[in-house]
Amino acid sequence: YQPGTDYAKRVTARGYLPTLMFASLTLLFSWSCPALGKKKLYIGALFPMSGGWPGGQACLPSAQMALDLVNKRTDILPEYELELIHYDSMCDPGEATKLLYDLLYTEPIKMVLMPGCSSVSTLVAEAARMWNLIVLSYGSSSPALSNRQRFPTFFRTHPSATLHNPTRVQLFQKWKWTKIATIQQTTEVFTSTLDDLEARTKEAGIEISVRQSFLTDPAPAVKNLKRQDARIIVGLFYETEARKVFCEVYKEKLYGKKYVWFLIGWYADNWFKIKDPSINCTVEQMTEAVEGHVTTEIVMLNPETVRGASNLTSQEFLNQLMSKLGGKNPEETGGFQEAPLAYDAVWALALALNKTVGPLKAKGRRLEDFNYNNRDITAEIYRALNTSSFEGVSGHVVFDAQGSRMAWTLIEQLQGGSYKKIGYFDSTKGNLSWYGNDRWIGPGPPADQTVVIEEFRFLSQKLFVSVSVFAGLGILLGIVCLTFNIYNSNVRYIQNSQPYLNNMTAVGCMMALAAVFPLGLDGHHVHRKQFPVVCQFRLWLLGLGFSLAYGSMFTKIWWVHTVFTKKDDKKEKRKHLEPWKLYATVGVLLVIDVLSLMIWQIVDPLHITVEKFVREAPKGDLDVLIQPLLEHCSSDKMNTWLGVVYGYKGLLLLLGIFLAYETKSISTEKINDHRAVGMAIYNVSVLCMITAPVTMILSSQQDASFAFASLAIVFSVYITLVVLFVPKMRRLITRGEWQSDTQETVKTQGSSTNNNDEEKSRQLERENKELQKIIQEVQDQLCYTVAIGSVMLYSRYRISYVLHRYRISYVYSRYRISYGIQ
Ligand SMILES: *[C@@H]1O[C@H](CO)[C@@H](O)[C@H](O)[C@H]1NC(C)=O
Ligand SMILES: *[C@@H]1O[C@H](CO)[C@@H](O)[C@H](O)[C@H]1NC(C)=O
Ligand SMILES: *[C@@H]1O[C@H](CO)[C@@H](O)[C@H](O)[C@H]1NC(C)=O
Repeated sequence: YQPGTDYAKRVTARGYLPTLMFASLTLLFSWSCPALGKKKLYIGALFPMSGGWPGGQACLPSAQMALDLVNKRTDILPEYELELIHYDSMCDPGEATKLLYDLLYTEPIKMVLMPGCSSVSTLVAEAARMWNLIVLSYGSSSPALSNRQRFPTFFRTHPSATLHNPTRVQLFQKWKWTKIATIQQTTEVFTSTLDDLEARTKEAGIEISVRQSFLTDPAPAVKNLKRQDARIIVGLFYETEARKVFCEVYKEKLYGKKYVWFLIGWYADNWFKIKDPSINCTVEQMTEAVEGHVTTEIVMLNPETVRGASNLTSQEFLNQLMSKLGGKNPEETGGFQEAPLAYDAVWALALALNKTVGPLKAKGRRLEDFNYNNRDITAEIYRALNTSSFEGVSGHVVFDAQGSRMAWTLIEQLQGGSYKKIGYFDSTKGNLSWYGNDRWIGPGPPADQTVVIEEFRFLSQKLFVSVSVFAGLGILLGIVCLTFNIYNSNVRYIQNSQPYLNNMTAVGCMMALAAVFPLGLDGHHVHRKQFPVVCQFRLWLLGLGFSLAYGSMFTKIWWVHTVFTKKDDKKEKRKHLEPWKLYATVGVLLVIDVLSLMIWQIVDPLHITVEKFVREAPKGDLDVLIQPLLEHCSSDKMNTWLGVVYGYKGLLLLLGIFLAYETKSISTEKINDHRAVGMAIYNVSVLCMITAPVTMILSSQQDASFAFASLAIVFSVYITLVVLFVPKMRRLITRGEWQSDTQETVKTQGSSTNNNDEEKSRQLERENKELQKIIQEVQDQLCYTVAIGSVMLYSRYRISYVLHRYRISYVYSRYRISYGIQ
């Protein structure tokens, strides 16, 4: 073979040329008709064109658009062509059973099934595993389908209805609600959605406090919501029922600034304005009732302008779909909203199949080898679909562990009769994009329940101050009396009154008065931590003050009684009373008190308890209740201790009255003031016996109980001091015995023994008159005290005030009679 020779020219023309021509023809042909030489893969699909959800009307064209694009692409399944074999399931499981049979038992073999409509998908997905078929649904929202045990090969590009729930929980948390109510139409979808919501809220620490459901008539359920003080209400029902519910809501006034409703977002925009003969509310009423409610809606069309896997933005996709639908009204085309999901379903499938080619080749398998007994290829497709992640026209496409689509949710609010977007929630990332244009009828999101404000009740400060002034003056008086007694302790008359006992009385009185101050201190003045100290001060000052003051008086009267009333006693013994016995008696009384208080405080110390009262509604229509609280000093077995202490003191008081009565006519020089002491004991006993039980009854009313207790203390002390010391002062002043008694008495004794008797009787007479005056004064004062106390009692508890007065005046009349006083 020599180039350039004839032979060579001939060979080229005969051999190479036809070969070249054939090759170029083949190329040309395959370019103009790419399907040639591609292996077909079949998809069996069911599109409901009628029935409950005629979604196929828009979803089928949309799926075909996707299929055309995929088949044209050279980077997706270049060796294969996808073909859709579809039937009309009419959204009817019975019809679908028959069609499924046709799909499976007629050639060719389908690689994947694509049903729509939840009831049909349930049937197909449950059966498919027997044929090792993957099921990819574009239009079923039933939460029941999220179940890998029942539906092991199921995927869906339509999110589950439970996808609303993470958004709802997010909003509850955003608006700080922890108590939610729900109302649902009794339907499987809504029930399982609410079950899911309940689980999620529980996880988030939110409580579903009321769960109501209804079949057709929502009136009782709405009434129950009202009765149970529901504020944040999630309502799941179809549009017709929604109108019924909101008509009831209007009637029950379960709307307005205190309430927030959460509804599903797929109702028509003007659903509440549509005339419905089954409801009895006007459009205005409905508009009023629905204002401000929040809806959640699954985003089915990507809100952002991005070019995804199909190189189309969502708007371009819509335009193409519209032209494909050929001028049909999208509102009346079933499944128009879900069309992007069908489109993305085909894309998800194509991309997944494209992904399986490599791994299958490695195993020596091909996609076209698929048959219904082949698990390897199914497993490979499953894996590919499960890891799907691409930008579709419906947003980012990913599936959760149950094969359900994860998507964004749109949050809208009805503001002034039209829906406004207020945010998006991406539950895969937990990212809430908030526009901040949510509007509320009140000042902000309402509370999820009536707010209870705790408010401590404090003592009236005016009362506290005025009683404190009295107590302060009383302490001054006590100091004056004490000084007087000590200064004049050399005067015979004072000496004969056992001045040390009187000093103790004065000191005790001042301590009791000092107890008024801690008695009036409460949370208004001191911190909660210091309060127990205040309690201790109250207890000890009052306890010791009483023991000292009353104990010393009691001692006096006791010894007057034991020593001077025994008629058969010998004369020399009569006059004999050693001072140490008096001190010992006071000492014993004090020790008993100190010991009992110590035991009480060691065994069962005082602490703060808080009393709760019935909640009150404040004026105005504020959504709050006030919970009044009151702090008390108490110990665990308060009543037992009080019983013991009051019992013992009560006995002492009674005994004191008795002894005072018994010794009224005795006259002795050693204790010359026992009548005045008897008088004081009467006063103190009566006041204490009225006050102690009354303050226990009134303990819940801080002002009344303080007034009672402190005024009783103040008056007892005043009376005691006045009765004990004022006559002495008068006598010393009027007689000029002031501090120079010893000389004077010597003088009188020396100069005039004859006049002694006469003077003595005159002196006694004067003394008697003085005493009468004092007694009159004291009676006036006492009556005043008793009257105040009784009026308080009467006004509060209607305890017979007359009875008290009667009793007291009885005691006094007896007393007066026995003294021979008018
Ligand atoms: C399809 O698969 C091939 C290889 O298996 C890969 O190179 C190509 O990028 C895939 N196409 C797409 C759109 O991912
Ligand atoms: C509708 O309202 C009217 C008056 O407001 C009342 O008389 C009537 O019974 C109501 N009908 C229904 C079905 O509730
Ligand atoms: C959340 O979403 C917004 C709006 O889409 C975006 O700007 C932001 O980066 C997102 N944040 C996170 C953490 O993903």
